[in-house]
Amino acid sequence: MEIKAVRGFNDLLPNEIGKWQFVEETAREVFEGFGFSEIRIPILERTELFSRGIGEATDIVEKEMYTFTDRSGNSLTLRPEATASMARAYLEHQLYTFDPVAKLYCIGPMFRYERPQKGRYRQFYQIDAEVFGVENPMVDAEVIVMLIHFLKRVGLEKLELQINSLGCHACRPRYREELKKFLTQKSFQLCEDCQRRLQTNPLRIFDCKVETCQEAIANAPKVTDFICPECQKHFDKVKEHLETAGLTYILNPRMVRGLDYYTRTAFEVVSYQLGSQNAVTGGGRYDNLFQEIGGLEIPGIGFAIGMERLVSLLPKDKEFVQTPYLFIAALGEGPLKEAYRIVNQLHLQGIRAELDYEGKSLKSQMRRADKFKAQYVLILGDEELKQGKAVLRNMETKFQEEIPIPNLVNILKEKVRRQE
Ligand code: HAM
Repeated sequence: MEIKAVRGFNDLLPNEIGKWQFVEETAREVFEGFGFSEIRIPILERTELFSRGIGEATDIVEKEMYTFTDRSGNSLTLRPEATASMARAYLEHQLYTFDPVAKLYCIGPMFRYERPQKGRYRQFYQIDAEVFGVENPMVDAEVIVMLIHFLKRVGLEKLELQINSLGCHACRPRYREELKKFLTQKSFQLCEDCQRRLQTNPLRIFDCKVETCQEAIANAPKVTDFICPECQKHFDKVKEHLETAGLTYILNPRMVRGLDYYTRTAFEVVSYQLGSQNAVTGGGRYDNLFQEIGGLEIPGIGFAIGMERLVSLLPKDKEFVQTPYLFIAALGEGPLKEAYRIVNQLHLQGIRAELDYEGKSLKSQMRRADKFKAQYVLILGDEELKQGKAVLRNMETKFQEEIPIPNLVNILKEKVRRQE
Protein backbone atom coordinates (compact mmCIF):
# COMPACT_ATOMS: atom_id res chain seq x y z
CA MET A 1 0.00 0.00 0.00
CA GLU A 2 1.22 3.46 -0.91
CA ILE A 3 2.26 5.44 2.15
CA LYS A 4 0.66 8.89 2.36
CA ALA A 5 1.48 11.93 4.48
CA VAL A 6 -0.18 12.24 7.89
CA ARG A 7 -3.48 14.19 7.87
CA GLY A 8 -2.92 17.88 8.49
CA PHE A 9 0.78 17.65 7.58
CA ASN A 10 1.54 19.18 4.21
CA ASP A 11 4.28 18.87 1.63
CA LEU A 12 5.43 22.17 0.19
CA LEU A 13 6.20 21.38 -3.41
CA PRO A 14 8.81 23.06 -5.64
CA ASN A 15 6.16 24.92 -7.66
CA GLU A 16 4.98 26.77 -4.53
CA ILE A 17 8.24 27.08 -2.61
CA GLY A 18 9.17 30.36 -4.32
CA LYS A 19 6.41 32.13 -2.39
CA TRP A 20 7.64 30.72 0.90
CA GLN A 21 11.22 31.72 0.19
CA PHE A 22 10.10 35.21 -0.79
CA VAL A 23 8.11 35.60 2.45
CA GLU A 24 10.97 34.29 4.59
CA GLU A 25 13.58 36.46 2.87
CA THR A 26 11.39 39.55 3.23
CA ALA A 27 10.78 38.77 6.91
CA ARG A 28 14.52 38.47 7.57
CA GLU A 29 15.23 41.70 5.74
CA VAL A 30 12.46 43.72 7.41
CA PHE A 31 12.94 42.32 10.92
CA GLU A 32 16.72 42.69 10.86
CA GLY A 33 16.21 46.26 9.69
CA PHE A 34 14.13 46.81 12.85
CA GLY A 35 17.01 45.48 14.98
CA PHE A 36 15.78 41.89 15.44
CA SER A 37 18.09 38.86 15.39
CA GLU A 38 17.22 35.32 14.44
CA ILE A 39 17.06 32.59 17.05
CA ARG A 40 16.52 28.89 16.32
CA ILE A 41 14.91 26.86 19.04
CA PRO A 42 14.13 23.14 19.29
CA ILE A 43 10.93 21.64 17.98
CA LEU A 44 10.58 19.57 21.13
CA GLU A 45 10.31 20.93 24.67
CA ARG A 46 9.35 19.65 28.10
CA THR A 47 5.54 19.57 28.27
CA GLU A 48 5.40 21.77 31.35
CA LEU A 49 6.90 24.70 29.45
CA PHE A 50 3.68 24.92 27.45
CA SER A 51 1.22 23.83 30.13
CA ARG A 52 2.57 26.48 32.48
CA GLY A 53 3.33 29.08 29.80
CA ILE A 54 0.21 28.88 27.61
CA GLY A 55 -2.10 27.84 30.48
CA GLU A 56 -3.66 24.51 31.51
CA ALA A 57 -7.20 25.64 30.70
CA THR A 58 -6.60 26.61 27.08
CA ASP A 59 -7.67 24.63 24.01
CA ILE A 60 -4.03 24.23 22.98
CA VAL A 61 -2.96 22.60 26.24
CA GLU A 62 -6.21 20.76 26.91
CA LYS A 63 -6.58 19.05 23.58
CA GLU A 64 -4.21 20.15 20.84
CA MET A 65 -0.70 19.23 21.91
CA TYR A 66 1.35 16.40 20.45
CA THR A 67 2.64 15.04 23.73
CA PHE A 68 4.46 11.78 24.33
CA THR A 69 6.71 10.11 26.84
CA ASP A 70 10.24 9.46 25.65
CA ARG A 71 12.27 6.36 26.46
CA SER A 72 13.51 7.92 29.70
CA GLY A 73 10.00 8.68 30.90
CA ASN A 74 10.09 12.45 30.20
CA SER A 75 6.89 14.07 28.98
CA LEU A 76 7.79 15.98 25.82
CA THR A 77 5.68 18.08 23.45
CA LEU A 78 6.09 19.19 19.85
CA ARG A 79 5.99 22.96 20.14
CA PRO A 80 2.49 24.36 19.47
CA GLU A 81 3.94 27.91 19.34
CA ALA A 82 7.32 29.58 19.74
CA THR A 83 6.90 32.33 22.35
CA ALA A 84 7.33 30.12 25.43
CA SER A 85 10.37 28.41 23.88
CA MET A 86 11.98 31.73 23.01
CA ALA A 87 11.39 32.96 26.57
CA ARG A 88 12.91 29.74 27.91
CA ALA A 89 15.99 30.14 25.69
CA TYR A 90 16.40 33.79 26.78
CA LEU A 91 16.35 32.71 30.43
CA GLU A 92 18.41 29.55 30.00
CA HIS A 93 21.22 31.36 28.18
CA GLN A 94 20.87 34.48 30.32
CA LEU A 95 20.66 36.67 27.24
CA TYR A 96 19.67 39.53 29.59
CA THR A 97 23.22 39.68 30.93
CA PHE A 98 24.35 41.07 27.55
CA ASP A 99 21.50 43.58 27.42
CA PRO A 100 18.12 43.49 29.16
CA VAL A 101 16.36 44.11 25.85
CA ALA A 102 16.30 41.28 23.32
CA LYS A 103 14.59 41.54 19.93
CA LEU A 104 14.33 38.06 18.47
CA TYR A 105 12.57 36.31 15.60
CA CYS A 106 12.23 32.73 14.50
CA ILE A 107 10.70 30.92 11.56
CA GLY A 108 9.60 27.31 11.64
CA PRO A 109 6.92 24.66 12.00
CA MET A 110 4.49 24.42 14.92
CA PHE A 111 2.21 21.51 15.76
CA ARG A 112 -1.37 21.47 16.98
CA TYR A 113 -3.83 18.61 16.88
CA GLU A 114 -6.69 20.66 15.45
CA ARG A 115 -9.35 19.56 12.98
CA PRO A 116 -7.73 20.26 9.59
CA GLN A 117 -9.52 22.56 7.18
CA LYS A 118 -8.49 25.30 4.76
CA GLY A 119 -6.06 27.55 6.65
CA ARG A 120 -5.87 25.19 9.63
CA TYR A 121 -3.34 22.40 9.71
CA ARG A 122 -1.68 20.15 12.26
CA GLN A 123 1.79 21.18 11.16
CA PHE A 124 1.88 24.83 10.17
CA TYR A 125 4.62 27.43 9.91
CA GLN A 126 4.92 30.61 11.87
CA ILE A 127 7.12 33.65 11.61
CA ASP A 128 7.44 34.81 15.16
CA ALA A 129 8.94 38.04 16.53
CA GLU A 130 9.35 38.91 20.19
CA VAL A 131 10.77 41.75 22.27
CA PHE A 132 11.80 40.84 25.80
CA GLY A 133 12.60 43.31 28.55
CA VAL A 134 10.56 46.42 27.67
CA GLU A 135 7.32 47.47 29.34
CA ASN A 136 7.09 50.81 27.56
CA PRO A 137 4.05 51.07 25.22
CA MET A 138 6.35 52.50 22.54
CA VAL A 139 7.57 48.98 21.88
CA ASP A 140 3.99 47.66 21.56
CA ALA A 141 3.46 50.14 18.75
CA GLU A 142 6.90 49.42 17.30
CA VAL A 143 6.25 45.69 16.84
CA ILE A 144 2.84 46.40 15.31
CA VAL A 145 4.40 48.94 12.93
CA MET A 146 7.01 46.35 11.93
CA LEU A 147 4.31 43.74 11.39
CA ILE A 148 2.13 45.95 9.19
CA HIS A 149 5.17 47.17 7.26
CA PHE A 150 6.18 43.56 6.62
CA LEU A 151 2.68 42.49 5.53
CA LYS A 152 2.54 45.40 3.10
CA ARG A 153 6.05 44.65 1.79
CA VAL A 154 4.98 41.13 0.81
CA GLY A 155 2.02 42.63 -1.04
CA LEU A 156 -0.95 42.18 1.29
CA GLU A 157 -3.76 44.67 1.10
CA LYS A 158 -7.13 45.23 2.75
CA LEU A 159 -6.00 44.06 6.14
CA GLU A 160 -7.57 45.05 9.39
CA LEU A 161 -5.59 45.62 12.58
CA GLN A 162 -7.66 44.88 15.67
CA ILE A 163 -6.45 45.78 19.13
CA ASN A 164 -7.61 45.31 22.68
CA SER A 165 -6.28 45.51 26.21
CA LEU A 166 -6.69 42.48 28.42
CA GLY A 167 -5.63 44.18 31.63
CA CYS A 168 -3.13 42.75 34.05
CA HIS A 169 -3.08 40.26 36.86
CA ALA A 170 -4.22 43.01 39.22
CA CYS A 171 -7.37 44.00 37.31
CA ARG A 172 -8.33 40.96 35.23
CA PRO A 173 -9.61 38.79 38.12
CA ARG A 174 -12.41 41.31 38.72
CA TYR A 175 -13.38 41.19 35.04
CA ARG A 176 -13.27 37.42 35.10
CA GLU A 177 -15.67 37.37 38.03
CA GLU A 178 -18.06 39.80 36.33
CA LEU A 179 -17.97 37.77 33.14
CA LYS A 180 -18.60 34.59 35.07
CA LYS A 181 -21.54 36.17 36.87
CA PHE A 182 -22.99 37.37 33.57
CA LEU A 183 -22.56 34.02 31.84
CA THR A 184 -23.84 31.97 34.76
CA GLN A 185 -27.24 33.51 34.13
CA LYS A 186 -27.03 32.27 30.56
CA SER A 187 -25.34 28.96 31.26
CA PHE A 188 -28.30 27.01 29.79
CA GLN A 189 -27.30 28.46 26.40
CA LEU A 190 -23.70 27.28 26.66
CA CYS A 191 -22.31 24.16 24.99
CA GLU A 192 -20.82 21.41 27.14
CA ASP A 193 -17.27 22.71 26.65
CA CYS A 194 -18.27 26.24 27.62
CA GLN A 195 -20.13 25.00 30.71
CA ARG A 196 -16.75 23.70 31.81
CA ARG A 197 -14.93 26.84 30.62
CA LEU A 198 -17.31 28.90 32.71
CA GLN A 199 -15.70 27.35 35.80
CA THR A 200 -12.10 27.05 34.59
CA ASN A 201 -11.52 29.95 32.20
CA PRO A 202 -14.60 32.00 31.21
CA LEU A 203 -12.63 34.28 28.83
CA ARG A 204 -12.17 31.32 26.48
CA ILE A 205 -15.94 31.36 25.80
CA PHE A 206 -15.36 34.35 23.50
CA ASP A 207 -13.53 32.03 21.08
CA CYS A 208 -16.24 29.35 20.97
CA LYS A 209 -17.75 28.99 17.52
CA VAL A 210 -21.05 27.45 18.71
CA GLU A 211 -23.90 29.80 17.79
CA THR A 212 -25.73 29.67 21.14
CA CYS A 213 -22.46 30.43 22.98
CA GLN A 214 -21.87 33.39 20.68
CA GLU A 215 -25.39 34.60 21.44
CA ALA A 216 -24.83 34.15 25.16
CA ILE A 217 -21.68 36.22 25.08
CA ALA A 218 -22.97 38.91 22.70
CA ASN A 219 -23.75 41.49 25.39
CA ALA A 220 -21.14 40.41 27.90
CA PRO A 221 -19.25 43.07 29.84
CA LYS A 222 -16.18 44.43 28.05
CA VAL A 223 -12.72 43.80 29.42
CA THR A 224 -11.72 47.39 28.67
CA ASP A 225 -14.40 48.64 31.12
CA PHE A 226 -12.60 46.86 33.93
CA ILE A 227 -8.93 47.60 33.38
CA CYS A 228 -7.02 49.48 36.09
CA PRO A 229 -5.75 53.04 35.58
CA GLU A 230 -2.18 51.83 34.82
CA CYS A 231 -3.42 49.45 32.13
CA GLN A 232 -5.68 52.18 30.75
CA LYS A 233 -2.74 54.59 30.59
CA HIS A 234 -0.60 51.97 28.88
CA PHE A 235 -3.33 51.22 26.35
CA ASP A 236 -3.92 54.93 25.63
CA LYS A 237 -0.20 55.34 24.93
CA VAL A 238 -0.17 52.33 22.59
CA LYS A 239 -3.04 53.89 20.61
CA GLU A 240 -1.33 57.26 20.58
CA HIS A 241 1.93 55.76 19.25
CA LEU A 242 0.04 53.82 16.59
CA GLU A 243 -1.69 57.00 15.48
CA THR A 244 1.63 58.85 15.38
CA ALA A 245 2.91 56.08 13.11
CA GLY A 246 -0.10 56.62 10.85
CA LEU A 247 -1.71 53.25 11.48
CA THR A 248 -5.43 52.78 11.64
CA TYR A 249 -6.87 50.17 13.97
CA ILE A 250 -10.17 48.85 15.18
CA LEU A 251 -10.88 48.40 18.87
CA ASN A 252 -12.20 44.91 19.42
CA PRO A 253 -13.07 44.36 23.09
CA ARG A 254 -14.15 40.80 22.30
CA MET A 255 -10.73 39.74 21.06
CA VAL A 256 -9.20 37.89 24.01
CA ARG A 257 -6.65 35.63 22.22
CA GLY A 258 -6.50 31.89 22.84
CA LEU A 259 -3.43 31.74 25.07
CA ASP A 260 -3.49 32.59 28.77
CA TYR A 261 -0.18 34.42 29.00
CA TYR A 262 -1.45 37.69 27.56
CA THR A 263 -1.64 40.87 29.62
CA ARG A 264 -2.53 44.36 28.40
CA THR A 265 -2.08 44.83 24.62
CA ALA A 266 -3.53 42.11 22.40
CA PHE A 267 -3.81 42.38 18.63
CA GLU A 268 -4.73 40.48 15.52
CA VAL A 269 -4.47 41.23 11.85
CA VAL A 270 -7.36 39.73 9.93
CA SER A 271 -8.00 39.40 6.24
CA TYR A 272 -11.51 39.24 4.88
CA GLN A 273 -10.21 37.26 1.92
CA LEU A 274 -9.53 34.25 4.12
CA GLY A 275 -12.91 32.83 5.09
CA SER A 276 -13.43 31.52 8.60
CA GLN A 277 -9.73 31.12 9.46
CA ASN A 278 -9.19 34.81 8.90
CA ALA A 279 -6.46 35.69 11.42
CA VAL A 280 -3.15 36.06 9.62
CA THR A 281 -1.35 37.21 12.73
CA GLY A 282 -1.95 37.18 16.44
CA GLY A 283 0.09 38.72 19.18
CA GLY A 284 0.27 40.71 22.32
CA ARG A 285 2.01 41.53 25.55
CA TYR A 286 2.75 38.92 28.19
CA ASP A 287 4.24 40.44 31.29
CA ASN A 288 3.85 37.32 33.44
CA LEU A 289 4.96 34.55 31.10
CA PHE A 290 8.55 34.57 32.34
CA GLN A 291 7.41 34.13 35.94
CA GLU A 292 5.02 31.34 34.95
CA ILE A 293 7.88 29.34 33.47
CA GLY A 294 9.98 29.86 36.56
CA GLY A 295 11.99 32.86 35.55
CA LEU A 296 12.50 36.47 36.42
CA GLU A 297 9.99 39.27 36.18
CA ILE A 298 10.54 40.22 32.54
CA PRO A 299 7.97 41.85 30.27
CA GLY A 300 7.53 40.73 26.68
CA ILE A 301 5.53 41.43 23.55
CA GLY A 302 5.41 39.82 20.14
CA PHE A 303 3.38 38.24 17.39
CA ALA A 304 3.24 35.20 15.17
CA ILE A 305 2.23 35.17 11.51
CA GLY A 306 0.67 32.02 10.08
CA MET A 307 2.66 31.38 6.93
CA GLU A 308 0.12 29.16 5.12
CA ARG A 309 -2.50 31.88 5.52
CA LEU A 310 -0.08 34.60 4.51
CA VAL A 311 1.11 32.71 1.41
CA SER A 312 -2.49 32.13 0.34
CA LEU A 313 -2.98 35.92 0.29
CA LEU A 314 0.01 36.82 -1.86
CA PRO A 315 -0.80 38.69 -5.08
CA LYS A 316 -1.76 36.18 -7.76
CA ASP A 317 0.00 37.98 -10.60
CA LYS A 318 3.44 37.85 -9.01
CA GLU A 319 5.81 35.22 -10.43
CA PHE A 320 7.53 33.21 -7.69
CA VAL A 321 8.66 30.05 -9.46
CA GLN A 322 12.39 29.82 -10.12
CA THR A 323 12.89 29.04 -13.79
CA PRO A 324 16.20 27.94 -15.29
CA TYR A 325 18.09 30.69 -16.94
CA LEU A 326 19.48 28.43 -19.60
CA PHE A 327 18.57 25.07 -21.07
CA ILE A 328 21.23 23.31 -23.10
CA ALA A 329 19.98 21.17 -25.95
CA ALA A 330 22.86 18.95 -27.01
CA LEU A 331 22.50 16.71 -30.06
CA GLY A 332 24.73 13.66 -30.13
CA GLU A 333 27.44 12.17 -27.95
CA GLY A 334 30.25 14.71 -28.54
CA PRO A 335 28.02 17.77 -28.03
CA LEU A 336 26.50 16.19 -24.91
CA LYS A 337 29.97 15.76 -23.40
CA GLU A 338 30.78 19.41 -24.18
CA ALA A 339 27.37 20.51 -22.84
CA TYR A 340 28.08 18.67 -19.60
CA ARG A 341 31.39 20.57 -19.25
CA ILE A 342 29.62 23.90 -19.92
CA VAL A 343 26.75 23.21 -17.54
CA ASN A 344 29.20 22.41 -14.73
CA GLN A 345 31.04 25.69 -15.34
CA LEU A 346 27.76 27.61 -15.30
CA HIS A 347 26.68 25.97 -12.05
CA LEU A 348 29.96 26.96 -10.43
CA GLN A 349 29.19 30.54 -11.47
CA GLY A 350 25.72 30.31 -9.91
CA ILE A 351 23.87 30.37 -13.24
CA ARG A 352 20.76 28.19 -13.14
CA ALA A 353 21.16 25.87 -16.12
CA GLU A 354 19.57 22.58 -17.13
CA LEU A 355 20.69 19.86 -19.48
CA ASP A 356 18.92 16.94 -21.12
CA TYR A 357 21.15 14.02 -20.05
CA GLU A 358 19.66 11.69 -22.65
CA GLY A 359 20.41 13.94 -25.63
CA LYS A 360 16.95 13.35 -27.15
CA SER A 361 15.68 14.96 -30.37
CA LEU A 362 15.87 18.75 -30.71
CA LYS A 363 12.09 18.94 -30.74
CA SER A 364 11.68 17.10 -27.48
CA GLN A 365 14.49 19.11 -25.84
CA MET A 366 12.90 22.39 -26.96
CA ARG A 367 9.62 21.17 -25.48
CA ARG A 368 11.33 20.58 -22.13
CA ALA A 369 12.98 24.03 -22.29
CA ASP A 370 9.53 25.52 -22.88
CA LYS A 371 8.04 23.59 -19.98
CA PHE A 372 10.79 24.83 -17.68
CA LYS A 373 10.23 28.40 -18.98
CA ALA A 374 13.97 28.74 -19.68
CA GLN A 375 14.97 32.22 -20.77
CA TYR A 376 17.63 30.97 -23.19
CA VAL A 377 18.34 27.71 -24.97
CA LEU A 378 21.82 26.85 -26.12
CA ILE A 379 21.78 24.53 -29.10
CA LEU A 380 24.88 22.43 -29.59
CA GLY A 381 25.24 19.91 -32.43
CA ASP A 382 28.21 18.20 -34.09
CA GLU A 383 28.50 20.95 -36.72
CA GLU A 384 28.60 23.77 -34.13
CA LEU A 385 31.05 21.83 -31.96
CA LYS A 386 33.39 21.40 -34.96
CA GLN A 387 33.35 25.19 -35.49
CA GLY A 388 33.77 25.91 -31.75
CA LYS A 389 30.42 27.72 -31.64
CA ALA A 390 26.93 27.25 -30.26
CA VAL A 391 23.56 28.82 -31.07
CA LEU A 392 21.98 30.85 -28.28
CA ARG A 393 18.24 31.35 -28.62
CA ASN A 394 16.34 33.94 -26.60
CA MET A 395 13.07 32.15 -25.88
CA GLU A 396 11.09 35.33 -25.47
CA THR A 397 12.25 37.33 -28.53
CA LYS A 398 13.15 34.18 -30.55
CA PHE A 399 16.37 35.99 -31.53
CA GLN A 400 19.24 33.57 -32.25
CA GLU A 401 22.95 34.32 -32.25
CA GLU A 402 26.10 32.28 -32.68
CA ILE A 403 28.48 32.41 -29.76
CA PRO A 404 32.08 31.12 -29.58
CA ILE A 405 32.14 28.36 -26.94
CA PRO A 406 35.21 29.69 -25.07
CA ASN A 407 33.39 33.02 -24.45
CA LEU A 408 30.08 31.44 -23.54
CA VAL A 409 30.26 31.50 -19.75
CA ASN A 410 31.35 35.15 -19.69
CA ILE A 411 28.68 36.20 -22.16
CA LEU A 412 25.96 34.47 -20.14
CA LYS A 413 27.27 35.94 -16.89
CA GLU A 414 27.08 39.40 -18.48
CA LYS A 415 23.49 38.78 -19.63
CA VAL A 416 22.45 37.66 -16.15
CA ARG A 417 24.16 40.69 -14.60
CA ARG A 418 22.33 43.06 -16.95
CA GLN A 419 19.05 41.47 -16.00
CA GLU A 420 19.58 41.91 -12.23
P1 HAM B 1 -1.85 32.14 17.69
O1 HAM B 1 -2.93 33.12 17.53
O2 HAM B 1 -2.19 30.85 18.34
O3 HAM B 1 -0.70 32.88 18.50
O4 HAM B 1 -1.19 31.85 16.29
C1 HAM B 1 -0.69 32.88 15.48
C2 HAM B 1 -1.04 32.64 14.02
O5 HAM B 1 -0.62 31.34 13.63
C3 HAM B 1 -2.53 32.66 13.73
O6 HAM B 1 -2.99 33.97 13.53
C4 HAM B 1 -2.60 31.84 12.45
O7 HAM B 1 -2.29 32.65 11.31
C5 HAM B 1 -1.50 30.82 12.64
N1 HAM B 1 -2.05 29.54 13.07
C6 HAM B 1 -2.40 29.17 14.33
N2 HAM B 1 -2.85 27.90 14.34
C7 HAM B 1 -2.81 27.46 13.08
C8 HAM B 1 -3.14 26.23 12.42
N3 HAM B 1 -3.59 25.17 13.10
N4 HAM B 1 -2.97 26.14 11.08
C9 HAM B 1 -2.49 27.19 10.36
N5 HAM B 1 -2.15 28.37 10.92
C10 HAM B 1 -2.32 28.51 12.25
C11 HAM B 1 0.49 32.31 18.85
O8 HAM B 1 0.90 31.27 18.44
C12 HAM B 1 1.31 33.21 19.75
N6 HAM B 1 2.54 32.49 20.09
C13 HAM B 1 1.60 34.51 19.05
C14 HAM B 1 2.44 35.44 19.88
C15 HAM B 1 3.77 35.66 19.75
N7 HAM B 1 2.02 36.18 20.88
C16 HAM B 1 3.04 36.85 21.38
N8 HAM B 1 4.10 36.54 20.70
